Amino acid sequence: MAAERDELEPGAVEHYDDAHYYDYTYRTRTEDIGFYRRYVRQHGGPVLELGAGSGRVSLPLVEDGAELCALEASEAMIERARAKAKERLAPKDRERLTLVRGDMREFSLGKQFNLVLAPFNTLLHLYEPIDFARCFRCVAEHLAPGGRFVFDVRFPQLKELARDPDRVYRARPFKHPTLGHKVVYEEQFRYDPLKQVQHVTIRFKPGEGAPRRAKTVTVLLSQRQIFPNELRALLSLGGLELAGRFGDFSGRPLADDDLVQIVVARKSKA
Ligand SMILES: C[S@@+](CC[C@H](N)C(=O)[O-])C[C@H]1O[C@@H](n2cnc3c(N)ncnc32)[C@H](O)[C@@H]1O
Repeated sequence: MAAERDELEPGAVEHYDDAHYYDYTYRTRTEDIGFYRRYVRQHGGPVLELGAGSGRVSLPLVEDGAELCALEASEAMIERARAKAKERLAPKDRERLTLVRGDMREFSLGKQFNLVLAPFNTLLHLYEPIDFARCFRCVAEHLAPGGRFVFDVRFPQLKELARDPDRVYRARPFKHPTLGHKVVYEEQFRYDPLKQVQHVTIRFKPGEGAPRRAKTVTVLLSQRQIFPNELRALLSLGGLELAGRFGDFSGRPLADDDLVQIVVARKSKA
């Protein structure tokens, strides 16, 4: 599939190479799962999830009874999702889950879905207009009549984008679940205003008690910033249009000071 043909940016890959750490970091993020569970219960499947990662959202949806196809580019993430499904799901539930390694910018699954989902900033790994056009065209092709495309992306925060790129932000040291020793966690932020991409350099430095041979691990995370009004134009590149927007996972309408944009789109009527 396209994952082999089109190179993914390092900033779309490195943060997801350690799927175990990903699950550890986001273990308390559950509000969005509740939102997607309610949405799928109300609207019904089958469901296609883009950038499904380690199955953080997919597995609860399958546990609820949904038939779900999880499309994911990272081998590490998909392997983790597979292992978790084997551990958590009964064999008969597992039959409703299909894991596909692929690229959301080009996929052809040979079926249509009532819901296409892209939870937790997955679409911020589309960097250029052509990436959005290709992805959204594929989404439109895979949406069944009356189907919806639902995703959440961060609402760009101007204060965050204006951060001094030389400033190092440190968090409290913690025991890294994969490295197995204490690390000092650092982040540095560099915003590219022409490309509208925020690059986050994450460093795990050996902390107190770390083995002498331990080295600093550096990881890049690059996220396209999608401004609310621009989103309409991006959706139209793939023949999609806005059907609704929320500003939090309780379903409150989007307001100008929200941190997240939860978007419901559908195929354009024209
Ligand atoms: C922020 S994670 C979200 C994972 C999952 N949806 C969740 O809510 O935990 C973004 C995911 O998108 C995947 N990804 C990045 N670029 C991709 C692409 N072009 N095609 C498919 N998946 C991609 C990453 O590997 C990662 O698993």
